Amino acid sequence: MERYKDIIDEFDAFVEALEQPQPQDIRINTIQSSVQEVRDRYGDLLIDRDVDDRFFIFDGEPGKTVGHWRGAYYVQEATSGLPPLVLQPDNGERVLDMCAAPGSKTSQMAAMMNNTGEIVANDVSGKRTRGLLSNLYRTGCVNTTVTERDGRNIPEDTQFDKILVDAPCTGEGNAREQEQLRDGVDPADARDLAGLQADLLEKALRLCKPDGEIVYSTCTFAPEENEMVVDTVLEDASLLPIDMPCPASDGITAWQGTELSSSLQRTKRVYPHQLDAGGIFIARLTPDH
Ligand SMILES: C[S@@+](CC[C@H](N)C(=O)[O-])C[C@H]1O[C@@H](n2cnc3c(N)ncnc32)[C@H](O)[C@@H]1O
Repeated sequence: MERYKDIIDEFDAFVEALEQPQPQDIRINTIQSSVQEVRDRYGDLLIDRDVDDRFFIFDGEPGKTVGHWRGAYYVQEATSGLPPLVLQPDNGERVLDMCAAPGSKTSQMAAMMNNTGEIVANDVSGKRTRGLLSNLYRTGCVNTTVTERDGRNIPEDTQFDKILVDAPCTGEGNAREQEQLRDGVDPADARDLAGLQADLLEKALRLCKPDGEIVYSTCTFAPEENEMVVDTVLEDASLLPIDMPCPASDGITAWQGTELSSSLQRTKRVYPHQLDAGGIFIARLTPDH
């Protein structure tokens, strides 16, 4: 991670946080349950997460309870909940989740929409799509259709109010749980993914209604997959401000001698020393067409 020394505030605290075990979080699934019901059943094990009133640290084994099994709550880390909280899908809207499996954010959005409107949850991977289907069934999401195709090939004879592009990435934000990521990934791997990530984001711009919104997110710290990808589409899109529900840093506007758009300051980075969880990058855009 040394290559991020100049862009990550309080770098020593960041490195120290990567060595700490990560708390396990749950999101109460208000489609199948209520905050009160889950509190009544598991209250002794729950510690408030400040990001949203549905998220809690679960001081135990959240995947081994009947509450998990019947979809009263979903095991989802707090940082993973941030992109939907920024996108704010609303009742009755048409939403595309372009890279959806295994469905943490899809099921969160279905609950935010009170199971109304329509979500198209797409993923390229057949194996992961099966997990997505099972999670959507378990959590009672009835406003969601699952499609299995390359996001770059989604037909363009339809448009959406809101689109989430939770892009495939090198995953450095998972370094607390995956020791092999603690030193950071090979920058060449990050550069290799950037083309696909930019293609998916460009596709989302074409599928978005003129007054619609897109959230682009990754769980990595690599600027090649974050600000540099978003920078490539800014001729066709504008960045919108983000009101983060937790401590965060602004996006960077230059990297290794390359100047980027100053508007990238509007993007957000969340590090494990700011929110005691994994890391994430979030950009909120609207198309200029
Ligand atoms: C970060 S994961 C998504 C996690 C998911 N949004 C969630 O919250 O549970 C990225 C996903 O992108 C999918 N993916 C990779 N390439 C893709 C493509 N070209 N089109 C659509 N999905 C793709 C992967 O199969 C993977 O499931």
